[in-house]
Amino acid sequence: MGWHVNLLTLFPDMFPGTLGHSISGRALENGLWSHEAIQIRDFATDKHNTVDDTPFGGGAGMVMRPDVIENALLSCKKPGRNIYLSPRGTPLTQSLAEELAQEDALTLLCGRYEGVDQRVLDVHNFEEISIGDYVLSGGEPAAIILMDACIRLLDGVMGNNETVNEESFSNGLLEYPHYTKPDPWVDAHGNTHAVPETLKSGHHKNINAWRQEKSLELTRKRRPDLLKKNDKKT
Ligand code: ADE
Repeated sequence: MGWHVNLLTLFPDMFPGTLGHSISGRALENGLWSHEAIQIRDFATDKHNTVDDTPFGGGAGMVMRPDVIENALLSCKKPGRNIYLSPRGTPLTQSLAEELAQEDALTLLCGRYEGVDQRVLDVHNFEEISIGDYVLSGGEPAAIILMDACIRLLDGVMGNNETVNEESFSNGLLEYPHYTKPDPWVDAHGNTHAVPETLKSGHHKNINAWRQEKSLELTRKRRPDLLKKNDKKT
């Protein structure tokens, strides 16, 4: 039936957003994934449709109410795994994206304001996921990024499966550099740049070795943490 995502948000118009374009947009049209953006405010119970309130203990900002979020969550026909996008969550990685792409359904809670009442996160087993060590003004762009990373891994979404296997992270290394025509290329300053000879040799063993070496070199320079993490030979 395809991968399904429920989005609990105060800004349902933000979806599908960029996911309605390009590869993910085509996959959406083809029914390979589906989504439902649920307006949290529709589940408020007072006449002002209040979704947030001041934090107990004091401090800046507002906190989203557990009752309203629970009502929104219970409206999902097929909730699947509950995820709250938050900078204090488990980091999103390629292997976590692979895991989430295997699920039938996800429910992504997109917070605004200072946060969400902890009790509803605990009661409904929300896993917290972060897309990186920086703070966004809301969870919606993070939800779109998480979904994008999953959608391109769904069966039938990418034309060429090797693309998925060779790129950065799927082997624990950063991807090697790419080149295309023209060769040589003369830039706007009049300088001439040739494509590396090995790539034009037609010798596939040498080409693979060259690419592996470039991958290692880039990873060593930019992301030495990846080499340590995966215990890759340098
Ligand atoms: N919401 C705000 N910042 C975020 C982040 N870095 N990751 C996930 N959700 C967020």
